[in-house]
Amino acid sequence: MTIIEPFRIKAVEPIRFTTREQREKALLDAGYNVFGLSAKDVIIDLLTDSGTGAMSAAQWGALMQGDESYAGSRSFERFESVVRSLTGYKHIIPTHQGRAAERILFHSALQPGDLVLNNIHFDTTRANIEYEGAEARDLVIPEARIPALIHPFKGNMHIAALEAVLRAEGDRVSMVMVTVTNNSGGGQPVSLENIRAIREICNRYDKRFFIDACRFAENSWFVKQREAGQEGRTPREIAREMFSLADGCIMSAKKDGLANIGGFLALNDDALAQKCRNLLILTEGFPTYGGLAGYDLEAIAQGLEEVLDEDYLRYRVRTVEYLAEKLVDAGIPIVQPPGGHAVYIDAAATLPHIKPLEFPGIALVNALYLEGGIRACEIGSVMFGLGADGKERPASLELVRLAIPRRLYTQSHIDYVGDIAVKVKGDAESIGGMRITYAPNVLRHFTARFEPVGVGVGRG
Ligand code: F0G
Repeated sequence: MTIIEPFRIKAVEPIRFTTREQREKALLDAGYNVFGLSAKDVIIDLLTDSGTGAMSAAQWGALMQGDESYAGSRSFERFESVVRSLTGYKHIIPTHQGRAAERILFHSALQPGDLVLNNIHFDTTRANIEYEGAEARDLVIPEARIPALIHPFKGNMHIAALEAVLRAEGDRVSMVMVTVTNNSGGGQPVSLENIRAIREICNRYDKRFFIDACRFAENSWFVKQREAGQEGRTPREIAREMFSLADGCIMSAKKDGLANIGGFLALNDDALAQKCRNLLILTEGFPTYGGLAGYDLEAIAQGLEEVLDEDYLRYRVRTVEYLAEKLVDAGIPIVQPPGGHAVYIDAAATLPHIKPLEFPGIALVNALYLEGGIRACEIGSVMFGLGADGKERPASLELVRLAIPRRLYTQSHIDYVGDIAVKVKGDAESIGGMRITYAPNVLRHFTARFEPVGVGVGRG
C-alpha cells in the first residue's frame, strides 16, 4: 500500500530548471564545491535536511503569535514548557541553532586536554570540542563502519570500548555524548537499551552524559519499529525515556524541531546552567530568547509537537527508504539500512577507480549535480580527512549524503532523484577524481575549491 504524504500543499515555490551547460558553468564558478552554488541553480536540493523543511499552517499561524518582548516573553514561556514537557530537563536555554548550544556547553564544561566520547561526533560538534583544546573521540560499534552490513541500531555506542576508555583515561573524560540518530554514520538509530547502558556506565564513573538530540523523533520511531518491547509505546514516550536517561541535551531545532532556524541547550545541573546562561548573554542574547525572535520560539514549540505524530514519522522514514530501494535496485551501494533523514551512497564502492585522496565523494556529488541539478553532500575525506595535526588521511568512509528536507518534496521529486542517480551509476567509469586547490584548516568542506584530476567531471 502506498504511504502518502500526510498533508496537503497550501503554498508552493517554483523550481527553476537548468541545462547541463548552465550547470557546468555554475560548478566551475563554484570551484567544484556545491556549497558555493547559488540555490537558484539547484533543481532538487538534498544538501541538508537542516532548516530546509516546510513549516505547517499551524506553525505559520503560530508565528503571528510571537511575543517579541526582550525579557520573559509569552513565546519563551510556551517554548520552555514544550521543551520541558518533552525532555524533562530543568534548565531550557534557547540558542540560534545547534552549534551555538555546542559552543556554549563546551566552553562552559571543558578544559584543554579533556576528552569527549560520542558514537560519532558531527563535524561542528567535533570542531567546537577541538576549539576548546579538548579531544573528540568516536566510539560507535564496529558494525557502523561496514556500509553494507545491516544492523537495526547501527548508531549504538560500543559499550565495551566506552568502558575501556573510561578505565584507562577516565580522568580526562569530561563528558559522554550520544548522537541520535547518528548523522555522520548514516543517520542510524541508537537503541534505548544502548542509552540505558551508557547511563549506567556514566553513573559508575561519575561522568556527565549529554544527548545530541537533533533527530530525536526519527530515532524514537526506529526504536518503536525495531526494539523488542517498544512497539506499543508512542514516539513521545520513547523520546521522554531517552531524555530522562541523560543529564541534558543539545538540539538543533532545524531538524526535528521542524523549524527553519533555532536550537536549544537543556540540562539539569544548576551551576553549569548558570555558566552557560552567562555566556549566552555575552554572545547570543538574553536567556529568554537566546538569539531567536519570539516568533521563532513559537514555530519551534509547534514543530516539536508535530514531529512526534506517528503518521508523519511513518511517512518520513518511508520516504527515505523508498529512495534507498530505488538506488539499491540500480546496483548503487548505500549504507544499510537507510537512515532516518538521508540515504548515504557509498562513494568509494560506487567509484572504486578513484583513490580516497582524490575524493570519490566530491566526484560523485559533482556528477549528480551535472546530470540532474541535484545537490548532495560529501561526508568523507574532505569533511574528515584533515587531522588536527594538519596531516591529510583518508576518512574511514567515503559517503555522499542525499538528505531529504522534511515535508518539502513529493514522491515524484524522489523518483526523479532515483532516475538521475541511476544514470550517474551507468556512467561511473567516466567520472574522474578531484584535487583541492584551496582549503581552510577548519570545516574545510564548506569553502574548499577543487579541480578535476585527469579526465571526467568538467572535462567531458
Ligand atoms: N549535531 C548534529 C548531529 C547535526 O546533524 C548538526 C547539524 C548539528 C549538531 C549542528 O546543528 O546546524 O543547527 O548548528 N547538521 C546539519 C546537517 C548541518 O546538514 O547535517 P546546527
